Amino acid sequence: MVGPPSGAHQGWAMRASFSKDRSVTEHRLAPGTVRRILGFARPYRRQLVAFVALVLADATVGAAVPLVYRSIIDDGITHGRTGYVAAMAGVLAVLAVLAITISLTQRWFSARIGEGLIYDLRTQVFDHVQRMPIGFFSRAQTGALVTRLNGDVQGAQQAFTSVLSNVVGNLAVVAMTLGAMFFLSWQLTLLALCLLPLFLLPARWVGQRLADLTRVRYQLNGEMGQMMTERFNVSGALVVKLFGRPEDESANFGDRAAKVRDTGVTQAMYGVFFMSSLGLLAALATALVYGLGGVFTIRGDLAIGTLVALAAYLNRLYGPLTALSNVQVDVMTTLVSFERVLEVLDLEPTILDAEAPTPIASGPVSVELDDVTFRYPTAAEVSLASLEGVAVLDSTSSGDVLRGVDLRVEPGATLALVGPSGAGKSTIAGLVSRLYDPTGGAVRLGGVDLRDTTLAAVRDTVGVVSQDVHLFHESLASNLRYAKPDATDEELEAALREAQVWEVVEQLPEGLDTVVGDRGHRLSGGEKQRIAIARLLLKDPGVVVLDEATAHLDAASEEKVQAALHRVLVGRTSVVIAHRLSTIRDADEIAVIDGGRVVERGTHEDLVARDGLYAHLNRTQFGRSEQSNGRSPVVADEPITDTPTLFVGGVEPVA
Ligand SMILES: Nc1ncnc2c1ncn2[C@@H]1O[C@H](COP(=O)(O)OP(=O)(O)OP(=O)(O)O)[C@@H](O)[C@H]1O
Ligand SMILES: [Mg+2]
Repeated sequence: MVGPPSGAHQGWAMRASFSKDRSVTEHRLAPGTVRRILGFARPYRRQLVAFVALVLADATVGAAVPLVYRSIIDDGITHGRTGYVAAMAGVLAVLAVLAITISLTQRWFSARIGEGLIYDLRTQVFDHVQRMPIGFFSRAQTGALVTRLNGDVQGAQQAFTSVLSNVVGNLAVVAMTLGAMFFLSWQLTLLALCLLPLFLLPARWVGQRLADLTRVRYQLNGEMGQMMTERFNVSGALVVKLFGRPEDESANFGDRAAKVRDTGVTQAMYGVFFMSSLGLLAALATALVYGLGGVFTIRGDLAIGTLVALAAYLNRLYGPLTALSNVQVDVMTTLVSFERVLEVLDLEPTILDAEAPTPIASGPVSVELDDVTFRYPTAAEVSLASLEGVAVLDSTSSGDVLRGVDLRVEPGATLALVGPSGAGKSTIAGLVSRLYDPTGGAVRLGGVDLRDTTLAAVRDTVGVVSQDVHLFHESLASNLRYAKPDATDEELEAALREAQVWEVVEQLPEGLDTVVGDRGHRLSGGEKQRIAIARLLLKDPGVVVLDEATAHLDAASEEKVQAALHRVLVGRTSVVIAHRLSTIRDADEIAVIDGGRVVERGTHEDLVARDGLYAHLNRTQFGRSEQSNGRSPVVADEPITDTPTLFVGGVEPVA
């Protein structure tokens, strides 16, 4: 945000505008952008009118001051009218106070408008992005999205405040100053203006250089930051410790930092050159005015007060004139920022509530995949090129991940999905919770096609424990209450007990109030899974989808997860992506997925007897588990024991 267009701020505002890319002036705006931007201004139209009025008032007061100087000298001092001089000095004081008051009020309005607009844009963008399908988040670079939106929202805001005050304010100042100067002495004014091109042309050149340098510096700073974040996060630091040569890293970093230093020096010199030449120009023009004007005054062609006033006006003229020479860049920059924000708001959320939604029955309902074909959306379908820093988005499709999948789970029954890594198991889980819509066929809950109901209904019906559990950087209690905001502490405890994780929580430094998540207290993989199960129990959905972690758990942890899972499955329809034998054996049906198709279906015994992929997976997995933990191999016809057996995860694709 840039303050009122008066005095000392001019130079700064001008230099700030150079930091923007001149290439934006060649950008073509989408049709209707300006009209839409005006739509955003609509709620602020009263404030905007007041703001513009104040900007004009500011320029008028500023332009009046030199006239008062003239009057003090010509009408007061030269005629020896003490009273008049004192009165006019009083007028000067009043004008000074008035100028301050105006710029304070003006600033208040511009802050109100600017911050209000930022608020409007931010909340709209947040709401909108939140409604985007998961595919958007897996394609868009979240970092770029966040920085871009932060930056662009602020840039858009400047369209109203800084551009308005710069353009309107500077135009007003230049017009009034020039008018007053021509009125005082058109000859001197024309002469003083002759100096202007001498300055404006080099100023544009320096401006271009400064813009280039600034871009280079942003780039270099970005690289430096990137290097630091990469090296200084835990995993990066670990690689450097284990493999890296710290001297090389330091030298590499030193090189980049040195480039930043060098461009910094050049940039500072250009900046100071620019500012001093502006000063020099004003000084030269003043010399000219005093020199020529002085001669005119001696000849009696010009009053002495007029001369002083002309010199005072000159000082007010050059700043605004140079700022106006860059105004095109300023205006375009803000318009482009606005356009980028609008672009995000224009992205269609593809997964939406049905117009006339059918409710889903409560309780354990059936889950059905009817001839489902699915491919993941391409970047071009879900994201924006400008968000990913590329000109054209990748539109090559990954191909069908699921092909003709038919599955049905009766109410209250359990279906286990097994298969090699990358077979499409997690994809099926995503379709059941409507993270994606199938490209062909239908997914139904209780007989209702998910596209014919609301997202809220699907959320209420289906609970998911995903393959990698995410906890927010918040207290454990608030992480759990994400599933049930009004849950009491007792309910939380009961759920945690059921999920076999209460003992762990009890041991935490602050119990339920311990901050967990990536930067909080670290829980082990197994503990996190059980917390997620507790969260699911609080939600109490009719259908559960469990994507068991493939991470190897130790026997004790495994046993607890198993017991917790057991609690979850009772009285619910469930789809379990299973890596553990006990889960699979308890299932009513097992579907073996390979290459996006259901290749085998049946119970454990059926499938072992069939001697297909399942039997193969079964053999290879147990062969490995025998080696890794020294347990006896489980054979198919062995009676199910209470001891949970490790069905080792990370199933490898079968050759
Ligand atoms: N967001 C995505 N965009 C594009 N392709 C994806 C995406 N997620 C997964 N895939 C692809 O879809 C296929 C199936 O992935 P999926 O995650 O369903 O496998 P999985 O059976 O769950 O494997 P695992 O046992 O390793 O978890 C894989 O080939 C994968 O590369
Ligand atoms: Mg998976």
